[in-house]
Amino acid sequence: MKRSASILTFIAIVAIAATAQSLPIADGVINAGEYAIERNASGIRTLFTLSPDGSTIYAAVEAKSSGWVALAFGSRKMDGAHMIFGYVKDGAAVHAEQLGKGWTHSATTPFSLAKAVVERDGMTVLEVAVPAARFLKGRTLDTLAATGNKDDFVTRHSARLSQQVDF
Ligand code: HEM
Repeated sequence: MKRSASILTFIAIVAIAATAQSLPIADGVINAGEYAIERNASGIRTLFTLSPDGSTIYAAVEAKSSGWVALAFGSRKMDGAHMIFGYVKDGAAVHAEQLGKGWTHSATTPFSLAKAVVERDGMTVLEVAVPAARFLKGRTLDTLAATGNKDDFVTRHSARLSQQVDF
């Protein structure tokens, strides 16, 4: 009896540890299997996970770029989309959180829970975490991704995409 109880405890601990490990970490490095969903379109790789409690969206964008990359949430168009930009300049990570208006955007109250951008081997990766309640419609996320070839937040994209992700 005692033995089976400790086996059950062991299995429970392993299960909890496995669940905890499966959440992505916003460190600018996309590891194999880190995200539940992966899409590739327009030369942009995007990845998504919804936390098991439904509270947090983890997302990543990777593009061949030495300039900016960005993810946006809550809209299929720039207008009304909550954007997170990142680039690396002289080894330093630079971020901005902006709200789209028409085809422009401006600074907004920061909404991300975590963010990190890394440039390596000609690729730039941005990983973020955002509150799901703010952007999910049921189990569906309207999201954008884009990249530009300058280290700034104003030069227009060289590639961009709009998509719906169902968790
Ligand atoms: C950096 C400054 C930006 C400028 C100057 C800019 C400018 C524009 C312009 C002029 C268009 C219409 C022409 C076209 O279809 O390409 C457009 C469309 C679009 N942009 Fe941007 N953009 C910027 C940033 C972003 C960001 C950060 C994202 C996503 C994270 C994004 C995603 C899109 C998408 C999905 C469209 C097509 C849908 C729509 O019309 O809104 N853009 N952008």
